[in-house]
Amino acid sequence: MNKEALIRCRKLTKVYRKGRIEVVPLKDLSLDVPQGEFLALMGPSGSGKTTLLNLIAGIDRPTSGELWIGEEEISGMSRAQLTRWRATECGYIFQLYHLVPILSAYENVELPLLLRKDLSKAERRMKIEAALDIVGLSDRGDHRPAELSGGQEQRVAIARALVGDPSLLVADEPTGDLDRESADSILSLLRDLTGEHGKTIVMVTHDAKAAAAASRTLHLEKGQLVESLEGGGK
Ligand SMILES: Nc1ncnc2c1ncn2[C@@H]1O[C@H](COP(=O)(O)OP(=O)(O)OP(=O)(O)O)[C@@H](O)[C@H]1O
Ligand SMILES: [Mg+2]
Repeated sequence: MNKEALIRCRKLTKVYRKGRIEVVPLKDLSLDVPQGEFLALMGPSGSGKTTLLNLIAGIDRPTSGELWIGEEEISGMSRAQLTRWRATECGYIFQLYHLVPILSAYENVELPLLLRKDLSKAERRMKIEAALDIVGLSDRGDHRPAELSGGQEQRVAIARALVGDPSLLVADEPTGDLDRESADSILSLLRDLTGEHGKTIVMVTHDAKAAAAASRTLHLEKGQLVESLEGGGK
């Protein structure tokens, strides 16, 4: 087993049952993702990309197989344990940002910290300001999502994913709703997060140019990895 890998999936299988219908979006998938890697996952619609991200992020649990993130076997955790684990260990970035419209950028970034009992208001403020600074939005903390561009909204969402200082970020088509220029600037931010800040990122994308910004690209088909190509980025 590769000790340097932050993510280790072993024969991960996910089965969904709806009445008599069984869907198997992931089948015996094994994968190592080294610490600090920017991994792109591509594949046709329905190939299991979001399912895999949700398992890696501890939002959903595998039906069988093992999933280790660092020293923790998250496949063995209960839902309550996973919720606590996520608060400090994994940030999730969505295609449509999922910001709360009535909250300011600052308050949106604060949300995951409100789940934590160990931080004072002053400690929260330091973390929120640091996260907004990393994404280049120190001067937009008071803006509501409707007062930001799409690229800026995604930056706020990235700050929210970063604010608890997790080692792992997962992103489901983070540039899917952006114009090329904003997309490229988000991709370059994600690259900096792996390089300068040592984060490990797993990003699902349908865009070959986005995948080229990653350090490695893997392809999923029918719940299995089918080939591995080096990204053009590094
Ligand atoms: N909660 C669920 N219950 C039942 N079936 C599900 C559930 N979530 C996903 N599926 C099924 O699992 C399969 C894989 O879905 P998934 O969302 O992982 O695909 P994807 O690769 O992310 O596709 P896309 O590119 O369209 O986002 C699909 O056939 C889907 O219908
Ligand atoms: Mg998906």
